[in-house]
Amino acid sequence: MRILVIAGCSEGFVMPLVPLSWALRAAGHDVLVAASENMGPTVTDAGLPFAPVCSGVEMPEVLSFDRDGDRTTMPREEEPLLRHIGRGYGRLVLRMMDEALALADRWRPDLVLTETYSLTGPMVAAARGVPWIEQSIRLAAPDTITRAAVGELAPELCALGRTEFPDPMLSLDVCPPSMRPRSKPGATRMRYVPYNGRIEQVPSWVFEERKRPRLCLTFGTRVPLPNENTIPGGLTLLQALGRELPKLGYEVVVAVSDELARTLDPLPEGVLAAGRFPLSAILPACDVAVHHGGHGTTLTCLAEGVAQVSVPVIAEVWDSARLLHAAGAGVQVPWTEASVETVTAACAAIRDDRSYIDTARRLRDEVAALPSPADIVRLVERA
Ligand code: TYD
Repeated sequence: MRILVIAGCSEGFVMPLVPLSWALRAAGHDVLVAASENMGPTVTDAGLPFAPVCSGVEMPEVLSFDRDGDRTTMPREEEPLLRHIGRGYGRLVLRMMDEALALADRWRPDLVLTETYSLTGPMVAAARGVPWIEQSIRLAAPDTITRAAVGELAPELCALGRTEFPDPMLSLDVCPPSMRPRSKPGATRMRYVPYNGRIEQVPSWVFEERKRPRLCLTFGTRVPLPNENTIPGGLTLLQALGRELPKLGYEVVVAVSDELARTLDPLPEGVLAAGRFPLSAILPACDVAVHHGGHGTTLTCLAEGVAQVSVPVIAEVWDSARLLHAAGAGVQVPWTEASVETVTAACAAIRDDRSYIDTARRLRDEVAALPSPADIVRLVERA
């Protein structure tokens, strides 16, 4: 089969699709990954062939302007904020659609694979009559986002004689069943196998016995960026936590881009290392992670069995952070309440209550028992 993987415009959207793409390729299928141009290195680092379908684009920019180029206002309440995000995902399709359709016409895929909100996938599927697979890459994907995206794309769908996207031939849910027993009707659970980017060399401390509990501090690929898209306070909070968390008795590892690591202050006492460490390579040697609620980070922590303190920055992951908190595998600190004091208190609570780590390990085993991407390939082949 020829499978066109259509991804979005940031690492967080591309990397979770890599393990199923590998499994399809290893089973002998042709796989081609289409995404925005700036995702080229992310895709090729993963050993997959890449075709750009729009110039480099950043989601904050897509969110900031409507179809007519007028500046949008970001709402503050959850539901309007989710609709705002959904309309942005709709507008991302407008940037990608023409080139994605041209690529599909040249490459002639038998199947499209995409994640829930990378809606260029179902648009190509609808326009060219190709079946598509939806892989969720989050614990929960609020339907409000999809509804808003469908609303934004109403003229394009109408041109295809539709009011909705076609149903996927397979919908894959990566949330452990005990965290969210009800899945989409007809969805199949899949094991979340983490892929967090190119691994240069696994640091030697990963293999050494640790004397103290170890905590990984990360705010993902976007939140700590020192540019105009920065979430106010993201980098400052990260640095302050780097100084405070060792005082709780943790040995701290800071996972940030190498570029950012070079600009940080000298490592405070009790911080072992700072740099881009692919999480799945280092989390087996950690007990706790403090992060920004990013879906890839959250799911990697679950797959590796570490307790989590989630400070969910972007509204689309607030639901996931609530599920994590309710399951007892971590503590969520709402972004509006995020401070050195509240995050440190959450880390102290985890240090003092063994149940968080026990629950995280139980969930790790639950994730590991789900059908792997290789099992899913056999399912796709039989369909
Ligand atoms: P995600 O958690 O979805 O958040 P965001 O899109 O806000 O960045 O994706 C971040 C991914 O990057 C996730 O797979 C973890 C990975 N990552 C590392 O593995 N190590 C690092 O040092 C950094 C900065 C990111």
